[in-house]
Amino acid sequence: MNKNIEFDKEKCIGCFMCRQVCPFNVIEFIEERPALNPGKSCLQCMHCAVVCPAEAISYNGKNPVIDKRNRTLPEDFTESLESHLMSRRSYRHFTNQPVSREILEHALQVACWAPSAKNQHLTKYIIVDKKEVIAQIMETILEFAKDHSDLDIIVKEYEEGNNPVMGNAPTLLLAYSSDSAINPVGDGTLKLYTAELLLQAQGVGSCWAGYLTRLSNRIPKLRKLFDLPEGSSFIGALMLGYPEKLENYEKIPERVKKQEIKWL
Ligand SMILES: Cc1cc2nc3c(=O)[nH]c(=O)nc-3n(C[C@H](O)[C@H](O)[C@H](O)COP(=O)(O)O)c2cc1C
Repeated sequence: MNKNIEFDKEKCIGCFMCRQVCPFNVIEFIEERPALNPGKSCLQCMHCAVVCPAEAISYNGKNPVIDKRNRTLPEDFTESLESHLMSRRSYRHFTNQPVSREILEHALQVACWAPSAKNQHLTKYIIVDKKEVIAQIMETILEFAKDHSDLDIIVKEYEEGNNPVMGNAPTLLLAYSSDSAINPVGDGTLKLYTAELLLQAQGVGSCWAGYLTRLSNRIPKLRKLFDLPEGSSFIGALMLGYPEKLENYEKIPERVKKQEIKWL
């Protein structure tokens, strides 16, 4: 389990910083040099390598620090970030152009830097951007909804020309995870939200698709269509596409429900 991390005893200056940042005291010091405690499990978070001033830590024979620049944020970063967070909106009306696969793949790879319980990162994705598959998913949902009164709202809205399941999205992104993960829903949500923020920064509209998530788990025909592995569940989904002109959300609406905060 721990064998991928190695310490170069020649380069190491014995500063103990690696040990101090290790989340589970996996690093012990023997004769003033670090070593992995064989009885403990390393999370492979690489914090040790990031703080090592001597670049003495390798992972699979390579320095795991992929960007050595000092991360100084631009002066107006907080303001820009806040503005982006507050102007994220749920888009449900799209042009029929599917989202660039390159942009999507990149956003999902970057989203892998979102936190994950015990660094497990067990979220996986299914992306649907073929018109006929999207139509088949919606048909399956409508067929199922017609026999289940708790889903009357989907049928009624759809008949009135509104699709609360997927809008008219040309791309659907579904995230699933093994049920045995420590925190499957939390981990996947953090990843999808990170990807959503990146995508909206690049002009891609998105909306969380709760109905699609729940029904993809509930309808056996859909689990089969997605080839969802045994012991896995969908944890979230996004409708995606390039927004129609109608959905111009440059202005920020009030959040009418305020957050309750208790200080102890
Ligand atoms: C977990 C989750 C599930 C959601 N499911 C749906 C859905 O199935 N259909 C839909 O139209 N909107 C869905 N939404 C979007 C919410 O309705 C939306 O976030 C809320 O109305 C606030 O609007 P805003 O995101 O533009 O600020 C969902 C949001 C979340 C967080």
